[in-house]
Amino acid sequence: MKPDSRGLAVTTDSDQAIAALNRFTDAAVSLKPGMAEITAAARREPECAMLQICAAVLHALSQSNLEARRGVRYLDLARQRRADLNEREQNFINAVAAGCDGDFDRAIGVYQRIVERWPRDILAAKLAEFHCFQSGDAGRQLQIMENLAGANGDSPHALAMYAFALELNGRRENAEQTSRAALRLDPDSMWAQHCLAHVYGEQGRVSEGIAALEDYAPRWKTFGQYIQSHNWFHLASLYLMQLDFDRALDAYRNHIWGFQSDEVVEHTDAILLLWYVELAGGKVQERWSEIAPHIRAKAHEQVFPFLTTIYLYALERAGQSAEVDSALAEMEEYARSQTGRAAYVWNEIGLKQARGSVAFARADFDQAAALLGGALGDIACAGGSDEQRAVFAQSHFLSLSRAGLTQQAQQALHDYLAGRSSTALSRRWRAEIGG
Ligand SMILES: [Fe+2]
Repeated sequence: MKPDSRGLAVTTDSDQAIAALNRFTDAAVSLKPGMAEITAAARREPECAMLQICAAVLHALSQSNLEARRGVRYLDLARQRRADLNEREQNFINAVAAGCDGDFDRAIGVYQRIVERWPRDILAAKLAEFHCFQSGDAGRQLQIMENLAGANGDSPHALAMYAFALELNGRRENAEQTSRAALRLDPDSMWAQHCLAHVYGEQGRVSEGIAALEDYAPRWKTFGQYIQSHNWFHLASLYLMQLDFDRALDAYRNHIWGFQSDEVVEHTDAILLLWYVELAGGKVQERWSEIAPHIRAKAHEQVFPFLTTIYLYALERAGQSAEVDSALAEMEEYARSQTGRAAYVWNEIGLKQARGSVAFARADFDQAAALLGGALGDIACAGGSDEQRAVFAQSHFLSLSRAGLTQQAQQALHDYLAGRSSTALSRRWRAEIGG
């Protein structure tokens, strides 16, 4: 038994294994490259269960059922040593297994127990944060991050995770203060900068947000491609609020699309940015066709409804309606096969969200308005962050307007803009919808 850099006991006698685990955790929470190196370490030392567990984590984070199932072989190796493992490691096996299984609620529950008992376990908290993104469970995310931050006031990454949970719960002043505390510990804390990007976007603080993110951006290059693209997505979203389509599409071309074109994380940023460009009145038509070949297979997977929905929307915009119809039929079949909470999430919210988004892409605004309107009240449970889910609210009020339901459109726009500063984009929508 040896302690890792956070003082957590690991069942191993190998200093090399501990060093590999420390590097994995550091990469996971700092968002620097290096997590993938754990696979080689796990193969080198098959007797260290925690290395196997962390190798499986990479699969649990893949956002692909196919990939997630491939993590099971590492968990099987870890289970062979189960009798020797400590309680935290045994819990970790259960949590990662639930994540690979697509049972995000169960995974979050186990990670939450780990963080309650071992609040220095920042990796468990980071993995819980990821699954909370998939299940939209911001309330539980905040509980976990409160525990974490209480025991890790020295860690900019723990503070940034706490800040982001505050942001997702609408406590944006607290989120900003906590992000700034993280940045005082580490001015390059990428996740704290990301949290501020959410705050700027949600509050419509456009010029201030652009100035801050453009100041940070030259130092993003040493971080993982995923978070570089994602923070550029946030900066591009701010450009759109100024109706600056040129700079938004420059960000798309130079920083968001074309780096890891088969990765879900890149798909998400690229699709959502193009969707936002169109919602703001811009044109992107040929861009959908360049994404389509990379996402066709993904549209047939059901990981969480938000993800399936954005794939269906992108394929529809690329003109692949037959593919969309067959993927929608598969989604309906999958939804019907679900039980318990998942049955509600997929049937009552996910299907309306997906069908409504496809209807919007097809300019069938009556259908889009009705279906999206039926999903919006509880759309968080289908996954995604607040800023990502705004595509559905924006598509909804524009659908109402284009369907001729002017009063309802004005009310929906009014609700959406509440608490946000006026921007060139909000003024464009007001001019289109009235009110
Ligand atoms: Fe974000």
